[in-house]
Amino acid sequence: MATPAVTAATISAESRNAPNSPERVFETVRKREEALSHLLMTFVSTGLLFMVFPGTFLGVWNLLQISGRESAASVSQAWLQAHGHAQVFGWVGSFILGIGFYSIPKLRDGANSYLRAAWVCWAMWAAGAAIRWAANIYLWEWRVLLPASATLELAAFAIFFREVSQHRPDPEGKGRLEPWILVVASASMGLLLVLLTNLAACFYVALRGGTPAFPHVFDQRYLALVAWGFLVPFVWGFSAKWMPVFLGLKPFRPRILQAAVVLNLTGIALTVCGAGGAGVWFFVAGSGLAVMALRMFEPAVNEAKIRGVHKSFPLFVRMAYVWLLVAAVLGVAAAGWDTSGGIWGASRHALTVGFVAVMILSVGQRVLPAFAGMRLLWSTKLMVAGLTLVSLGCVMRVSCEVLAYQRYVTWAWSVLPSSALCELAGLTVFAINILGTFVLEPSHAHKQPVMAGMPLKLS
Ligand code: HEM
Repeated sequence: MATPAVTAATISAESRNAPNSPERVFETVRKREEALSHLLMTFVSTGLLFMVFPGTFLGVWNLLQISGRESAASVSQAWLQAHGHAQVFGWVGSFILGIGFYSIPKLRDGANSYLRAAWVCWAMWAAGAAIRWAANIYLWEWRVLLPASATLELAAFAIFFREVSQHRPDPEGKGRLEPWILVVASASMGLLLVLLTNLAACFYVALRGGTPAFPHVFDQRYLALVAWGFLVPFVWGFSAKWMPVFLGLKPFRPRILQAAVVLNLTGIALTVCGAGGAGVWFFVAGSGLAVMALRMFEPAVNEAKIRGVHKSFPLFVRMAYVWLLVAAVLGVAAAGWDTSGGIWGASRHALTVGFVAVMILSVGQRVLPAFAGMRLLWSTKLMVAGLTLVSLGCVMRVSCEVLAYQRYVTWAWSVLPSSALCELAGLTVFAINILGTFVLEPSHAHKQPVMAGMPLKLS
């Protein structure tokens, strides 16, 4: 039998098909990048769904009822808590898990099992948050469903934690963790603590409670843990990572940020132990130090990186930090003067909507299109419209909640429904813009260099 001639073409075809050839490696990385973007888009779309329907629509409904009756006490606590849970876990939690899985991928070995674990985590997390909402609203078999939902959420987080904790900053795994990662790690520990507390409380109300709502005093302390132990440090950590580049600021001051985290933790410990009157001062001090550490209000030394987003992006990010300070100061006022829940409510809203939501709307529209296969944001006009509506609604809500609930002036009750509709419109516009980006904007991933799940160019 004649031996086939070995030509240059067959050599190059063979070398292209060799397992370690640049073409094969490139193709493998490209496919994994696509799989990760797909995963991220699913987490983000799930989060948006929770944000709009079980979260914001229910929040608006609750506020309309409160304003109509001119009393917060007359509304179902289970419904108020269903709204809060859908926003914090369904929306913010899904975003954080999705971005976490996307940013810290194990691409060398075990990429398939990593992706499988991430999909299982998504299913359990989404099911847990949805079951909790349904149990609180419809009361069907809530004594079983409440602990089941909390167990699912904790198990989903355990999967996430196991996967991302295997990530090492360098191939030997000996490098020191960057300071911003430590802040995000402290926020992750906060989330773990929140989920454990939630599980214990769900079992408690399932066995002893008359309704699925957590008892009021416990709920207030639990909310402090959620807000200051989980949401706030997450935003600080990601601000430390991204803001020096995005806003063109000088590098952040790691020591001062660490001091801010320690003060914040002290505030949480005091609040959880029942000394909330002292704890609120630590939140003010911690927030002030965080702003200093991140140089949020110092002049930029480089041009802000606003390619692809609206030019108001740096303004809204800075405004979010003003809301953080407002929330902390309102906490002090609430500890001193609140007689109705209105100052506490205003402080919480300044934090959840003014700080967390404005930050997610700003940074989300900056980074998510790139993470979702190097797309461009669908509309920068929708971006500024959404942020303006949410900010306007938040100013109306925070000011009028204090005035109305505390019965300082009666006209403030009539402003609250408009504030809710304004925020609903802003958040819906944000959801439309992100979904429009995923569905209508083409992916440019094939033109971009890729690196272990994180696009090389985020400028
Ligand atoms: C249109 C936007 C929103 C409206 C109309 C709204 C409305 C409300 C209302 C009426 C309450 C009851 C307490 C009070 O009277 O202040 C409440 C509580 C709460 N909201 Fe919102 N909210 C909105 C957005 C958000 C967002 C974006 C988040 C989180 C990211 C959030 C998280 C919470 C939490 C954690 C609670 C406490 C629930 C509890 O008592 O356990 N809300 N909200």
